[in-house]
Amino acid sequence: MERIGMITKETGIHNSEKMNNLMNLAARIAKFPTTVLIEGETGVGKEIMANWIHHNSNRNNMPLIKINCGAIPEGLIESELFGYEKGAFTGAKQEGSPGIFEQANKGTIFLDEIGELTSPMQVKILRVIQDHEVRRVGGSWSKIIDVRIIAATNQKLENLVEEGEFRKDLYYRLKVAHFVIPPLRDRREDIEPLIKYFISTYNKEYELKKWFNSEAIGALLKYDYHGNVRELRNIVEIACITSINDEVTPRDLPEYLFKNKVFQTGNSLSNTVEEAEKKAILNALRQENSIRKAAKLLEISNATMLRKMKKYGI
Ligand SMILES: Nc1ncnc2c1ncn2[C@@H]1O[C@H](COP(=O)(O)OP(=O)(O)O)[C@@H](O)[C@H]1O
Ligand SMILES: [Mg+2]
Repeated sequence: MERIGMITKETGIHNSEKMNNLMNLAARIAKFPTTVLIEGETGVGKEIMANWIHHNSNRNNMPLIKINCGAIPEGLIESELFGYEKGAFTGAKQEGSPGIFEQANKGTIFLDEIGELTSPMQVKILRVIQDHEVRRVGGSWSKIIDVRIIAATNQKLENLVEEGEFRKDLYYRLKVAHFVIPPLRDRREDIEPLIKYFISTYNKEYELKKWFNSEAIGALLKYDYHGNVRELRNIVEIACITSINDEVTPRDLPEYLFKNKVFQTGNSLSNTVEEAEKKAILNALRQENSIRKAAKLLEISNATMLRKMKKYGI
């Protein structure tokens, strides 16, 4: 069972307009007690946003308690969330125990991986949101609580609703304020400041003097990070730890960064042209919502577009 505990005040590093806008909006809604739903691929910074919202709320001197709904065995989740009275089940503590909703009273509760909740638990959470009260397992009375709920998921909850896996009423109750954090590869301006931040973090933490040469930085800037910021962080940490010299070079980076990519170190003309071409294609694809329209924008044929996309692994 993963029980993450209290928070550190972390705002995260971001530079892209997308993230600046999202974090500013999050700081504004933080002042209100509304329920928040944060969606985004794994490692994009959902927990950081939850910290940021709590930090900017007027509950920030009260606890932020985090729980990973996907990591608690089904039989324990109810008592973990709502607590239990003495004798509620075998192995229960003599004096009973408060659940995290009670512990987070006046503060915030972060329900991570909310999409993993079983449907009986979804009903119970819905009831807490509607009635503002919790009842311990085996208890005969309810306690009024005042908790701000922030839920997060790396699945698109709307799809789960369509598939009948997640209650529609709960979905709408949760997404009063709804944030979708884009993948790191869709906000590339964040990559460089994050690299710098992680290098300095690990230099401090491990008393190192590592610096990444421009080829290494270049390779990191080009990669797609399906594990998002978490993956970038891990790559930087491992490179800092394993490089023999203070200068970190592409050789110190994992090989998979260079697979299926048109990437060579150096600044040859063809390399530069290919980079520009790839960038133009990615930009066009971002602007238009179909390959055909993007090809038209670039004034190339559909077939050429497809061929080039294949070449660049887009
Ligand atoms: N903007 C950011 N600035 C600094 N570190 C970040 C940022 N976003 C994510 N991280 C780091 O990346 C890792 C994953 O972030 P987390 O918030 O746990 O992502 P998620 O909850 O979406 O999986 C953590 O180590 C976190 O500190
Ligand atoms: Mg997380």
